[in-house]
Amino acid sequence: MRRQPWQPSLRNRLLRAWLARRGQAAVNVAGPHATADLELVSQVRSRTPLLLGDVPALQLLACVRATSDVPGALAEAGVFAGGSARLICEAKGDRALHLFDVFETLQAESADGTPETPAAAAVRSHFQRLHAKEADVRRTLARYSDVSFHTGVFPETAAALAGTSFSFVHLDLDLEGATLAALEFFCPRLAPGALLVADDFGSAPVEAAFRAYFRSRAATIIRLPWAQGIVVSAGAGPTA
Ligand SMILES: C[S@@+](CC[C@H](N)C(=O)[O-])C[C@H]1O[C@@H](n2cnc3c(N)ncnc32)[C@H](O)[C@@H]1O
Repeated sequence: MRRQPWQPSLRNRLLRAWLARRGQAAVNVAGPHATADLELVSQVRSRTPLLLGDVPALQLLACVRATSDVPGALAEAGVFAGGSARLICEAKGDRALHLFDVFETLQAESADGTPETPAAAAVRSHFQRLHAKEADVRRTLARYSDVSFHTGVFPETAAALAGTSFSFVHLDLDLEGATLAALEFFCPRLAPGALLVADDFGSAPVEAAFRAYFRSRAATIIRLPWAQGIVVSAGAGPTA
């Protein structure tokens, strides 16, 4: 029997089955915009360490753009070398972006012997010597307007933004305590229609933080099959 145009070839089906067994998928991007986005992701990856895969990176761009008419600033908690921040910058237009990371600040022992907070101890023990330098990330993002750095241990670094409303937030902190603190800080400050995108959704620490925060709160959360979760805000804006 002749194969119909919509039916995949045997080779195609075998390839897809083989990828599926490895937890991978073949994705066609559609249209010139998506092709240009894929080129952008690959260009950013070639210049800046980017810990997101191609599909989550495309999703990040799409979500930033989807909030272009929502009032409020953008934020990323968990910046590392600035790869995902650079993608956010490419899509944010002239909206303000707030970046939160410890960068190199936990690499030296405290000079005066002040005991570390539990949040700082958790970051130090999880990331150990893995860090990026704030000055390098500033250089990477220098060409984009209205980008602010809040360097240090989150959520202490967020206090100055208590009155800010957010249209888009990217959470990529890996740790349960930091992710829960970020949900507690950002969710009440999401404008109606805002999006909060979490990376590593499905990892035990991020799942535990989401379960704890949303146990007693109603929310629309889209669980994407590539370890991203999206919270769609129906919120009433800042309540701080
Ligand atoms: C997975 S990396 C971010 C990767 C980046 N979004 C990307 O895609 O290229 C996580 C970052 O979160 C930072 N981080 C984790 N917990 C933190 C906290 N409580 N305060 C500040 N930074 C934190 C770490 O230092 C690390 O740089």
